[in-house]
Amino acid sequence: MINSTTIDLMLGHRSIRSFTDETIETSVLERLIHAGQAAASSSFIQAYSIIRVTDKATREKIAEVAGGQKWINETPEFLVYCADLKRIELACIQQGQGELEGHTEHFVAATVDVALVAQNVLLAAESIGLGGVYIGGIRNNPQLLADLLDLPDQVYPVFGMCLGWPAIDPEVKPRFPVASILHQEKYQLDKVEADVAAYDEQMKEYYQTRDDNNRLSDWSTQTAKAVQFKKREHMLSFLQQRGLLKL
Ligand SMILES: Cc1cc2nc3c(=O)[nH]c(=O)nc-3n(C[C@H](O)[C@H](O)[C@H](O)COP(=O)(O)O)c2cc1C
Repeated sequence: MINSTTIDLMLGHRSIRSFTDETIETSVLERLIHAGQAAASSSFIQAYSIIRVTDKATREKIAEVAGGQKWINETPEFLVYCADLKRIELACIQQGQGELEGHTEHFVAATVDVALVAQNVLLAAESIGLGGVYIGGIRNNPQLLADLLDLPDQVYPVFGMCLGWPAIDPEVKPRFPVASILHQEKYQLDKVEADVAAYDEQMKEYYQTRDDNNRLSDWSTQTAKAVQFKKREHMLSFLQQRGLLKL
């Protein structure tokens, strides 16, 4: 089996939600973001902005919006990753092409761009012993985030990220086997059900035996609950009000 320190690092990922009091030097944070920006970018549009939130009161409001996630208050660094088409729109205007019209394709490109940067930042952070967690909970009330952070139209907050020095060492969560994810030549729908059932067995064992927060659950139970609970029906109109996802 091939291996490298990078692959080891990636396979060792687990979200961190508890941090020591040690801060992250600004130069270190900037270096991590620089590394994040090395991610590929669709047509090189670099459609992202990151808002660093240090203000205590703002953090408290965000933690509340995210469903009371206290690590947002406690983390040394809290970043809000935004898909940002504003810069691109300004370039279009400057080039005489006018404003963006809200094409779905541009929304997809910007959302993918920011996700790639964020994952690169997290991986760079993990490579120096930091840990972190994404915070999709900010989309419970994205309008409040837009107001708090002065986000212009053509910009939307995709997720937050806590970053800091881990105060805990949780276990790695098992993923689906590669054979379930990697289809050969064509999508193999006939094996999906059996693959999920097998993975559910593995995850049941994981949830029952893990050190912290152990419970009776499996992937299907968790996932079905999550998607029912997190429909966030405001998203389409919110995005359209931002000038996105209109056609
Ligand atoms: C886009 C995104 C949003 C997430 N939002 C949250 C969140 O709001 N709160 C949280 O505690 N974890 C959040 N997570 C972390 C996931 O729960 C976590 O990655 C998943 O359970 C797998 O666990 P692991 O990262 O420890 O391997 C999010 C992850 C992603 C990728």
